[in-house]
Amino acid sequence: MKYRIAKGVFDILPKDPDPKGNWRESHLWQHVESQMAAIAKEFGFHEIRTPIFETTELFQRSIGSTTDIVTKEMYTFHDKGGRMLTLRPEGTAPVMRAFIEKSLDQISSIQKVFYIVPMFRYERQQAGRYRQHHQFGVEAIGSDAPAQDVEVIDLLYSLFQRLGLQGLTLQLNSIGNLDSRKKYRHELKHSLHPYFDELSPESQERYHTNPLRILDSKNPHDKKLLLEAPTILDFLDDEAKGHFEEVRHLLDLIEIPYVINSNLVRGLDYYTKTVFEITSEQLGAQNSLGGGGRYNGLIKELGGPDLPAFGFGAGLERIIQTMLAQKVSLPPPQHSQLFLIPLGDSAKEACFKLASQLRKEHIPTEMDLSGKKLKSAMRYADTIGARYVAVVGENELESKQLELKEMASGKVEKVSFSSLVKRLKNG
Ligand code: HAM
Repeated sequence: MKYRIAKGVFDILPKDPDPKGNWRESHLWQHVESQMAAIAKEFGFHEIRTPIFETTELFQRSIGSTTDIVTKEMYTFHDKGGRMLTLRPEGTAPVMRAFIEKSLDQISSIQKVFYIVPMFRYERQQAGRYRQHHQFGVEAIGSDAPAQDVEVIDLLYSLFQRLGLQGLTLQLNSIGNLDSRKKYRHELKHSLHPYFDELSPESQERYHTNPLRILDSKNPHDKKLLLEAPTILDFLDDEAKGHFEEVRHLLDLIEIPYVINSNLVRGLDYYTKTVFEITSEQLGAQNSLGGGGRYNGLIKELGGPDLPAFGFGAGLERIIQTMLAQKVSLPPPQHSQLFLIPLGDSAKEACFKLASQLRKEHIPTEMDLSGKKLKSAMRYADTIGARYVAVVGENELESKQLELKEMASGKVEKVSFSSLVKRLKNG
């Protein structure tokens, strides 16, 4: 019996045998993750790690009970103690739970945290949507300043630039506060009412449960009907309007281009005022590389202090796929610098000792441990991409010298055992 991977998830491999699947190679992930952690730290964010599961209620309460995530996509189960738990579908709610539970606001009035973790959503299978995906997320708690919004947007935008991505669009909107949204929801329903029968079945359902999400519809006829609908930007109160203007001004100041998309509402209920997404023309329907916004009411809603916050989540799968599609230059995977091939038992011990010494000096070294024939050991050294290979037999043991052969050029040079470290440290 051969077991197969579960549907909608994937392995991250040292090397992917599928030529189309090379976004699943671990060295790419390490490169991207290290850039994410580095830029987050440069902007003053510290890592937070929360458990993979939380109580189900936390997500229902924060993401919103009528959202797609909560109604259709959560991996929810009862544990042996009868508790209802859910695999984390997103990162904001768990971070807020930890923030409130551990009273992190007592430590400092501003808290800036980041995470790079897997998320679980029971999605319909399609390109760019996985049942386990990974997000780089940041949450900045404690400031309601428009500059906080723009600092966080700048972090994500700068990360994408560092990673070499092109053809990106920053989409920006403001959905105001609860009150103006309520008024807008009413007007939106009112304007769509005469056309209700023409709406797609999904939008008809949303008309009753979560009308703002109709704005997100990908259905061409829904989109046409929406052209006549009022826009949320006309319903903002003065405070939200001023906030949005300042966000736009600061984006201009640091020269981050954006487009206003008044249909951008995002799929989670906790947002207030600014929302944004960065999309790539390279991706199909699921074109959002990352998105987020302000969520000023959430911490209070979850039983914590009344503090504002702003954050985003960005999907690693989509980011890496876009990088490969755009052929951005990537650091090569790290290979062994030296592969040692011992001939005979005493050579085995000598090589074993040598390899151990070289690694202590941080020189990536491997040796043949399985007694391969010379030819197949050479072939193996080639497949693992070793820079140099050295065969060690009686002669080498006696002279305490070996022949360092550069695999790419075939060039050979004699090096004594005692100067090997120095020689290899020079590249
Ligand atoms: P989200 O828009 O649901 O936001 O997800 C953020 C990003 O995760 C998306 O833009 C996308 O790149 C990626 N993503 C989401 N679902 C999938 C999936 N099924 N497969 C692959 N990639 C996916 C949030 O989760 C919010 N917590 C973001 C946030 C943080 N807002 C404030 N703070």
